[in-house]
Amino acid sequence: MSVLVTGGAGFIGSHTTVELIESGYDVVIADDLSNSKEEVLNRIEKITGKRPVFYKADICDKKALSDIFEKEKIDSAIHFAGFKAVGESVEKPLEYYRNNLLSTMNLLECMREHKVFDLVFSSSSTVYGTPETVPVTEDTPRGQTTNPYGQTKAVIERMMEDVSGADDRWHIMLLRYFNPVGAHASGLIGEDPKGIPNNLMPYITQVAVGKMDHLNVFGDDYDTPDGTGIRDYIHVVDLARGHVCALDNIRKKQGLNIYNLGTGIGYSVLDMVKAFEKSTGVKIPYVITKRRQGDIAKTYADPSKAKKELSFETKYTLEDMCHDAYYWQQKNPDGYGS
Ligand code: NAD
Ligand code: UD1
Repeated sequence: MSVLVTGGAGFIGSHTTVELIESGYDVVIADDLSNSKEEVLNRIEKITGKRPVFYKADICDKKALSDIFEKEKIDSAIHFAGFKAVGESVEKPLEYYRNNLLSTMNLLECMREHKVFDLVFSSSSTVYGTPETVPVTEDTPRGQTTNPYGQTKAVIERMMEDVSGADDRWHIMLLRYFNPVGAHASGLIGEDPKGIPNNLMPYITQVAVGKMDHLNVFGDDYDTPDGTGIRDYIHVVDLARGHVCALDNIRKKQGLNIYNLGTGIGYSVLDMVKAFEKSTGVKIPYVITKRRQGDIAKTYADPSKAKKELSFETKYTLEDMCHDAYYWQQKNPDGYGS
């Protein structure tokens, strides 16, 4: 079975490619390398012994995407390609709407034209907005998204609901990720953020290796036990395994189905700092600063639907997440290099 992985050179796409190959799938990657490096292909080959087929292609270019469907025998697709930086999306909304929506429309059209109807999409817990209660189940209605990035995820979810509602040949799974962190245990692939990291774990690992001198903790006056924000961190290899479970089961489910991918456990920012220090032995100096605009106090998943219907359960601990993230950062202080 051959899977088209759009955005397969990126953080989650590369880890998913490894898990797919190790589960016996053939992988065809389409990625324009706008937020990734070609070196990742060497690393994937080193881990799995197999090099995925790679097309350097902007999938907003329909002809380029269509050519891939012509040349390769594609059976299904996982759609990761897109821009994902929340702050940047506020500054460049049009670029975000254009890239995230056009790439998705092109993919859906090319799939229909080539009679490929099995699709897994990278959605986000951000579509829940500020949840009224936690843990969050998939029945929780989409909430108020507070930035263009989040809006694109909500619009794409609706677009896919309409498309699958109009044509019952589609089998679509929307996977709502909570907070992916960590890296492959080999230290060969991991997260390679451009410039100053926006997200907590890559920031902590950069403090740990001395690239930053301290962590800014965004607010300690939330309504949580220690006052700092609570999230559901999931090891990226578990998240990648979740995609394999989704594909393995996609034909068993009719139409469009939604799954949370998280552990079901919430940790605060200070829990993360303590866990990192315990697992690596490295001290993380931090300073409490004001809240980051748009942040919510607390969210974590109810992961029971994915367990029941996809037989998906996370297996990596918080200690693994911290250890593997640090190991990747230590082995690759400049990510994949220039
Ligand atoms: P990433 O930036 O590492 O990977 C995305 C990949 O898509 C990159 O390799 C980039 O070069 C490629 N890309 C972007 N636009 C493209 C285009 N038009 N044509 C071809 N390739 C294109 O991001 P990631 O963290 O791996 O995230 C993957 C997906 O998961 C994204 O859709 C993201 O929104 C979603 N997601 C990520 C998180 C997270 O915290 N990382 C959380 C929830 C959802
Ligand atoms: C981020 C995205 C969100 C996406 C989610 C899933 C932003 C603003 N939001 O949210 O759209 O769906 O990832 O991966 O990027 N923190 C600090 N100091 C830091 C960085 C973060 O204290 O330097 C805190 C935050 O306030 C938050 C927690 O750490 O409480 C996690 O932050 P982050 O890793 O950015 O993830 P989210 O805010 O959940």
